[in-house]
Amino acid sequence: MNTARTHESERTEAVHQRLTVSFHYPVVFTRGVFRADNPALIDQVRRLESDRQHRALAFVDRGVADAWPKLPTDIERYAEAHAEHLRLAGPPRIVPGGERIKNDLGVIRDLMHHIARGGLCRHSYVVIVGGGAVLDAVGFCASLIHRGLRTIRVPTTVLAQNDAGVGVKTGINTDGGKNTAGTFAPPHAVLNDFELLRTLPDGEWIAGAAEAFKVAILKDAEFFAWLEARAEAIPARDEAVMERLIRRCAELHLDHIRTGGDPFETGAARPLDFGHWAAHQLEAMSGWRVGHGAAVAAGIAVDSLYAERQGWLIPRDAERILDALRGAGFALWHPEFDRRAADGSREILRGLETFREHLGGDLCLTFPERIGARREVGAVEPSEFEACFDLLRSRFGPRGR
Ligand SMILES: NC(=O)c1ccc[n+]([C@@H]2O[C@H](COP(=O)([O-])OP(=O)(O)OC[C@H]3O[C@@H](n4cnc5c(N)ncnc54)[C@H](O)[C@@H]3O)[C@@H](O)[C@H]2O)c1
Ligand SMILES: [Zn+2]
Repeated sequence: MNTARTHESERTEAVHQRLTVSFHYPVVFTRGVFRADNPALIDQVRRLESDRQHRALAFVDRGVADAWPKLPTDIERYAEAHAEHLRLAGPPRIVPGGERIKNDLGVIRDLMHHIARGGLCRHSYVVIVGGGAVLDAVGFCASLIHRGLRTIRVPTTVLAQNDAGVGVKTGINTDGGKNTAGTFAPPHAVLNDFELLRTLPDGEWIAGAAEAFKVAILKDAEFFAWLEARAEAIPARDEAVMERLIRRCAELHLDHIRTGGDPFETGAARPLDFGHWAAHQLEAMSGWRVGHGAAVAAGIAVDSLYAERQGWLIPRDAERILDALRGAGFALWHPEFDRRAADGSREILRGLETFREHLGGDLCLTFPERIGARREVGAVEPSEFEACFDLLRSRFGPRGR
């Protein structure tokens, strides 16, 4: 801590308070996380105070509970097997899966009541099992009760394991907008169980790969080449490829948060949001029918075409990006892209304005500048984006238009 008293003027005096808070959370890769003989979870429960019994509440995504009906019982059995250190304050609670949990303030209020009534203290745990939406929403609630309870995330989608679950943010959607409310709340631990991904529908399995393309394009040319060579293995559900994809993508996200100099996003630059201005707008415009990963893939395509038109990305690299995304099974055109506002402009372009507001007034977008490198841009030309959407429609939209 560093405090200094300065005389700013005759009449004003300031005491400058500076403090640094450090966070540590392991991201553990495991299998069978709730098998009683798997130490991953109990090790994290005991990490800070090894001798006492900790209270915990568990939350399970409805989609996960449907696909793995025994999972809530497995969690209870796990706690019984480790009763010396872990006691559940109630049975695991099943919560709505997908974006609807982030959209419903009634559900958020119920979750907060449930956590607040669980008798948890600041050394207790909230164990969250689910996709990125459930991690975001339950994590948001947990970050508010007692000014922040410890969370242990068990991400159950590709996207949650390689991106949403390993970061430091929570969020919910209010007023029709995406992530309009949220907190910075690093987890206590993240337990990525690859086996849980087996039951993902194909669309969700593919969707999570979008964030891997995103970080690879901006930060790691070698990883991009690896992905490009294996794009078709993604829709074919090649598990070995997916496991490596998740690990590398999670590492790149963790590296960025740790070394990027702005983990709590106080500055304007937001490189991990490459492709996201259009993605968030598309998600909201589609009434949340288009999920986050699918929307990000289309957003990457738009911004890559823009970068090509500006001469930042050579045409060959833009083509490689589009080809790889197509090969991985992503749709790069969505009918929402053609929706027009009263003034004739594309509604999707409002995403630029929303993004600017979210950043705090100044627009700062990240674009690829060859594969593996990036540039931040403070001003963009909406008419150029119009041309990019026209191009996407002509190449990937419905025939005969
Ligand atoms: N906090 C962050 O830093 C961050 C980063 C990226 C994305 N996100 C958020 O993550 C959300 C998207 O998360 P997502 O892509 O994981 O999708 P999701 O959470 O919307 O889940 C998609 C669907 O899969 C189901 N599901 C989850 N796991 C399953 C399993 N193992 N088997 C069968 N079905 C399963 C869910 O019930 C849901 O219906 C968005 O809201 C996005 O904004 C947050
Ligand atoms: Zn994202």
